[in-house]
Parts: sequence; C-alpha cells; structure tokens
Amino acid sequence: ISFLPLMTALFLLQYTDKEEVVLWMNTVGPYHNRQETYKYFSLPFCVGTKKTISHYHETLGEALQGVELEFSGLDIKFKEEVMQTTYCDIELDKPKRDAFVYAIKNHYWYQMYIDDLPIWGIVGEADENGEDYYLWTYKKLEIGQNGNRIVDVNLTSEGKVKLVPNTRIPMSYSVKWKKSDVKFEDRFDKYLDPSFFQHRIHWFSIFNSFMMVIFLVGLVSMILMRTLRKDYARYSKEEEMDDMDRDLGDEYGWKQVHGDVFRPSSHPLIFSSLIGSGCQIFSVSLIVIILAMIEDLYTERGSMLSTAIFVYAATSPVNGYFGGSLYAKQGGRRWIKQMFIGAFLIPAMVCGTAFFINFIAIYYHASRAIPFGTMVAVCCICFFVILPLNLVGTILGRNLSGQPNFPCRVNAVPRPIPEKKWFMEPAVIVCLGGILPFGSIFIEMYFIFTSFWAYKIYYVYGFMMLVLVILCIVTVCVTIVCTYFLLNAEDYRWQWTSFLSAASTAVYVYMYSFYYYFFKTK
Ligand SMILES: *[C@@H]1O[C@H](CO)[C@@H](O)[C@H](O)[C@H]1NC(C)=O
Repeated sequence: ISFLPLMTALFLLQYTDKEEVVLWMNTVGPYHNRQETYKYFSLPFCVGTKKTISHYHETLGEALQGVELEFSGLDIKFKEEVMQTTYCDIELDKPKRDAFVYAIKNHYWYQMYIDDLPIWGIVGEADENGEDYYLWTYKKLEIGQNGNRIVDVNLTSEGKVKLVPNTRIPMSYSVKWKKSDVKFEDRFDKYLDPSFFQHRIHWFSIFNSFMMVIFLVGLVSMILMRTLRKDYARYSKEEEMDDMDRDLGDEYGWKQVHGDVFRPSSHPLIFSSLIGSGCQIFSVSLIVIILAMIEDLYTERGSMLSTAIFVYAATSPVNGYFGGSLYAKQGGRRWIKQMFIGAFLIPAMVCGTAFFINFIAIYYHASRAIPFGTMVAVCCICFFVILPLNLVGTILGRNLSGQPNFPCRVNAVPRPIPEKKWFMEPAVIVCLGGILPFGSIFIEMYFIFTSFWAYKIYYVYGFMMLVLVILCIVTVCVTIVCTYFLLNAEDYRWQWTSFLSAASTAVYVYMYSFYYYFFKTK
C-alpha cells in the first residue's frame, strides 16, 4: 500500500536528460459514464515497437478501481523531440472496424498516463449523417518540463482517417518539450475545476446547512429545556401527593417507562455489531478526510482507496471496543459470535457487492474485473488484520466498560406499550428522522456523485469535512428529538428507533443516487 505520495514525489519523479519516459495506456470507455472502463487494448489499437516494460505493478487501490496500465511501446526520452513518427499500423478488417465504430458511436475516450499525469483523448468522430466514421491517428504530445521534472502534458489528436475495411491505418505520434513555469506541486491544478466545485451554490449550500444547524440546535435545546422542566415540575408535584391520590392521578409520559428503558434491545447481537461498525466507519471517514485535506490524495491513482482500506483495518479495535462493550452491557453471552459478526459485517457487505459487480465486469470484459490475487489480498486483510485487531478491541471493551451501570433497575415484567397516534409509531419516526440530515448533505452528495460518474476530480475535502460535522450535529439533534417523542409516548423500545431514525438518512442518499444516475447522467 503506497501511503506516502509525497515520498514518491520527492525521490522518484525526477529525470535526467534522455532518460526514458513511459507513456502508459490505461483504459477506454464512454465519456458519459466514467465508471464503465475497458482495457485500452480491448479496442484493436496497435502497440509500438519498443518492448522493454511489460506490465505495471499496481497497488491494491488501483487494482480495485480497475486501473490497467500497459506500456504503449512509444519511445519517449526526456527532453528529446520526436517528429511525427509512425509507430505501428492497424490492419483494419471487418471485426476491427466494427469495434471502432461501436466505440466512436458511444463517444469513447481513452486515458493514458505520463509520469502520473492523466491524459485523455477521444477515439474518433462520426460525420453528421452518421454513416462515415473517422479515427484520430496522430497523437501530438506537448510536454512541459520544469528543471528535471514533468509538470504539464497536452495531447492534441490529429490525422483523421476514414474507417474503411481492409485498409492499413498508420498510427503516429510526436513529442515536443517545452519549458514551463508550473511548479511541480501545482501540476495537478489544471485538472481541478474550481468554477464547478467552488461555485456559489456550493458555498451557499454550506452556509444554508450551517444556518440549519444553528436553528436546529437552538430549537432542540429550547424544546427540551422547556418540556423537561415542565415534566419535572409535574412529576415532583405528583410526588407530593399521597399514594392514594397518585393511584387515582393520571401519570403519563417518559417517567412511566423508567423500569423498562434499560431493558436490552431486541436482537442485541446484531444491534451492538451495527453500533460498533458505525463507530468504526465514523472514525475512518474522519481520518481519511483529514488525510485527504493534508496530502492531496487525488494526485495518485487509487491512493484514496488504499488509504481507506488501510485506515479501516487499523481502526478495527474501535469496532470491537464499542460493539463488545455494548453487547456485554446488554447481557449478551455469545461474545465470540458477536465479534465475528461485528468484524465482518461491513467487509462482507462491501465485498459481496463488489464480487457481484465483478461477475458483471468479467462478463463484459471491463477493466473493473478484480484480479484473483487482489481478492486473496482483501480476504487476507480481513482474516489476519481486521479480525485479530477486532479481538483486541472486544476484549478491552468487555473488560473496561462491559458492566451495566444503569441509574435504575429494570423491571422483571415488561410494561405493555400503550396505543398511540400513528405519527408516534417507531416506523414513522424512523422514516421522518432521515429527512433533515439528508437535507443538510444532499448538495454535497450532488458534487460527490458528479465526480463519481463524470470526469471531474473531487478535491474540496474541506467542504466535505464541514458537511460531515454538520451531518453529525443534525443527526444527533434529530435522534434526541425522536427518542424523546418515543419515550414520551411510553414506548421503551428506543434503541433501534434511535439508531434507525438516523440511519434512514442512508436510504435517502441511496434513493438520491438512483435519481442522479437516471436523470443527471447519460
Ligand atoms: C497546454 O495547454 C495549455 C492551454 O492551452 C497551455 O497554457 C500550456 O502552456 C500547454 N502546455 C504545454 C506543455 O504545451
């Protein structure tokens, strides 16, 4: 796992004159869906004559994201100009022509890398009436160098050639070197799109969410203060009455359930596993966002994913600690089972989804298909890193904070739950609970989805951090209010309701992703 992009930047990416510069071919895919990619050589392009490097050794993150770097065979040397040179010919037979026509019809773009800088080029073009198809055959590379480093690459596609079956199409390239003033640290700036990501709308939405947070926190504290004070006043007045009066008096509200609120939740095993996993995911999000803010992880392929996996494995004790201690507090006995479920809940769901997508990817020969070795690596991480660390966390959690220390005893017999209005039902509270947290993040989700499906690099992790903080505050407020309503309706099943009323935000985000996919992408 390459974890230190700065190290590579400092030591590896310097060239001496005439040193070999490798042009890596990565993927091709439709311009309108960045997630659908195939190997560059899945289209019948031809390879240059130079044959020194075979395949790039990819990192874990790259393998999982479908990066497929293959040597182009083009001879490029640092600071050495190359005039237009033919590097190979495509023998265009019927199937090859069909493959190209399909790619051109679907607006395929290809992606290459020079010195970690991505280069995009379009495969070809159709004429207006869509009968003739043309392939761009001449790659004109202009590389900017600053001292002994590459800081800028421009690709111009020229040499439009009509695709006629049974002809020979020569592919050519040229390289021009230019002095550039761009600093090495700033060389990725031209790929970023500040006018999109730092648009007024984005600032405005953050401001909006921020105001909502202030409003909500004020509202919640005011309501709770006033109602709780009123409740206390009512309860203490009732205390002054003698037993006779109290039996006749109409006691109602949350105090009635004091003998039941600390009753273990239903399904404590899965509940504590979910809580433990949630704590872990929260710490992973926090750490990864902070690292991304510090280190510009987007400049290196796959390093974001590698970092996330590394941090996830490293924070496994958090999962074990909170899951294990909660399970012990709820009187659970099968703690080994809980540990396994807690440890593998998220990895199993993520890997299950990924392997399912993998089958589709293999079927379509997409570059997303995960190599077998990578699957083994991921399984090894699960069994030999995540599980032991989780065990450590679980043992600590059970011993340090596994004792139930509730302020009041749990009644032997559960209290019957009275009839209540429909909007006090847990299911309704759960559905309504997610709306406000979702409302506070959906603009940010729009930017994240855009960078997922379109060719835009997400780089505004400061925004993301702010939104994460806002989301947490809103979620906490909403959960407190939901729990208060539920307990006041004398329903003591608050654990799941409180968890799910916040978790339903995820359902709204999921639905929004469908909306985005069908209506905002092609
Ligand atoms: C690449 O194109 C941009 C914009 O046209 C230009 O400013 C820059 O100098 C070019 N770089 C090189 C190395 O030609």
